[in-house]
Amino acid sequence: MFEELPLFPLQASTFAGQVDALYFFLVAMATFFVVLIFGTVIYFTAKYRRRSATERPPPIHIDMRLEILWSIIPLILVMISFGWGASLFVHMSQAPEDALELRAVGRQWMWKLQHPSGAREINQMHSPVGKPIKVILASEDVVHSFYVPAFRIKMDVVPGRYTATWFEANREGEFHLFCTEYCGTQHSGMIGRVVAMKPVDYQRWLTSQAGEEPIAVSGERLFQQLRCETCHQTTSTAQGPALTGLFGRQVKLESGESVLADEAYIRESILNPHNKIVAGYRPIMPTYQGQISEDALHQIIVYLRTLGRAPEEKNPS
Ligand code: CUA
Repeated sequence: MFEELPLFPLQASTFAGQVDALYFFLVAMATFFVVLIFGTVIYFTAKYRRRSATERPPPIHIDMRLEILWSIIPLILVMISFGWGASLFVHMSQAPEDALELRAVGRQWMWKLQHPSGAREINQMHSPVGKPIKVILASEDVVHSFYVPAFRIKMDVVPGRYTATWFEANREGEFHLFCTEYCGTQHSGMIGRVVAMKPVDYQRWLTSQAGEEPIAVSGERLFQQLRCETCHQTTSTAQGPALTGLFGRQVKLESGESVLADEAYIRESILNPHNKIVAGYRPIMPTYQGQISEDALHQIIVYLRTLGRAPEEKNPS
């Protein structure tokens, strides 16, 4: 639709058309009411102008039908925009389970990406067309924002936590990747490109990136280098809780609360181990804050996930 109109980026993802449709609905609605209201104001100003110094207007009577009508119509319109916007937002915030996971780290001033196979890229993101791709984002320094206009996706990248976005490209091509949160002097240079390619070409590209080990393997090596298994053994006398089958499980804490062992929890437990102490253990784990990069954290988390997800618990205790 906007191929010839350089004002708009290409619609290159499955979201793009839906986002644009909502955008144009809102613009059309706003335009309609601006014209209606200003037109009426100008028309009435002329029509009901004071014609002589002694003129007194007739008293005004409230017409209840009119009052109800101009309350109900706007209500319906805002409810439509709310429902439409909310359902699109929810759809765009929840990546499908089978999405391919790419992990990205923003730093002043570049994007670093890693594929599950281990392939790394800087300021580039190769991805297959027609497959959902989830991008898990972390920042090494300040707030950045991951923005691909052609996909109509934008997600802040915030230090100290993970955020995520997803898309499914529906055409091949090269598209702009921008940082869209002011992050320092070179912010405007923090740009890159997304290369959407046929799945076979993507596989070929992956194989051409030889020499990289899968993320989970790097994670396992780090796990051993950092001597995590000294305490995190599976024996009952271990100093730290066993990590097999941890991911996706509810963990009981010393405080009596339970938390879900997701990526955010594991991240926090590595960087600030004393925030959440697992029930039955002492707060002896040292912090790894400052000793472990965002890339390494990603790798360890992916490795821990390969240790198995907990089976669906019948009665969580
Ligand atoms: Cu990173 Cu602006």
